[in-house]
Amino acid sequence: MEADRLYDDPDLAQFYDLENGWAEDLDYCRVLAGSCTSVLDLGCGTGLFAASLMGCDVVGVDPAAAMLDIAASRPGGDRVRWVRGDARTVRLGRRFDLVVLTGHAFQVFLGDEDRAAVLCTIAAHLAPAGRFIFDSRNPEFRQWRAWTPGNSRRTIEHSALGRVLAWNDAACDPVTGIVTYGTFYKLADGRQHSSQSRIAFPSQQRIAAAIGAAGLFVDRWLGDWSGTSYAPASPEIIPIGRL
Ligand SMILES: C[S@@+](CC[C@H](N)C(=O)[O-])C[C@H]1O[C@@H](n2cnc3c(N)ncnc32)[C@H](O)[C@@H]1O
Repeated sequence: MEADRLYDDPDLAQFYDLENGWAEDLDYCRVLAGSCTSVLDLGCGTGLFAASLMGCDVVGVDPAAAMLDIAASRPGGDRVRWVRGDARTVRLGRRFDLVVLTGHAFQVFLGDEDRAAVLCTIAAHLAPAGRFIFDSRNPEFRQWRAWTPGNSRRTIEHSALGRVLAWNDAACDPVTGIVTYGTFYKLADGRQHSSQSRIAFPSQQRIAAAIGAAGLFVDRWLGDWSGTSYAPASPEIIPIGRL
């Protein structure tokens, strides 16, 4: 798996929080975390979720230094232990009441082997009564088809750079199902920052098989963040489970 400049390059990472604010997924996970004394956030990114948790022991793991720099400097960032690491291989030698991957971080794992590895990491870090939760977009929705320059064109107000024009494009490989999407930021002075990212859209059956093979058990499948149960037409695939 190659490093993704969208997260690794400070010129691109500086836009992450402007584009991805607090949303109902984090509300849901924060309620789950409410009864926990320890939380592991894999693929924590800029740490919005991890740093919001109070009164519990939180560890955030991400391989992208540019994202972790933002995480460490945000309010509440000093309450979290940030670990630069890969969710497929990291071993912290301890267990947690809750393990999360938020913001579709699970989709950065492109193949069965990568997904098996991250699920093994979850299993290795769950306390006996601990729970895990993550989200993956339902491939039936083919959401990437809307990620065209025309649909996605937007302006972002950056405190130092002023008005920035942003857009995406995307293409799905019909053989692998992997979606490659471009992210583009054009600054007022004409400079442009861009990246090409790849994400997978595994089906619910594929995710369920991988979860079972990792020795994990799903208590509930949600289909969206309002708590509706998963159905084939749900926009999201959200397992909540345990060892
Ligand atoms: C879509 S962002 C989600 C960030 C955060 N969880 C959120 O809710 O905003 C995906 C994150 O996964 C991270 N990532 C990529 N490869 C990873 C890996 N092998 N292990 C852990 N995290 C990874 C990226 O660096 C990025 O921060």
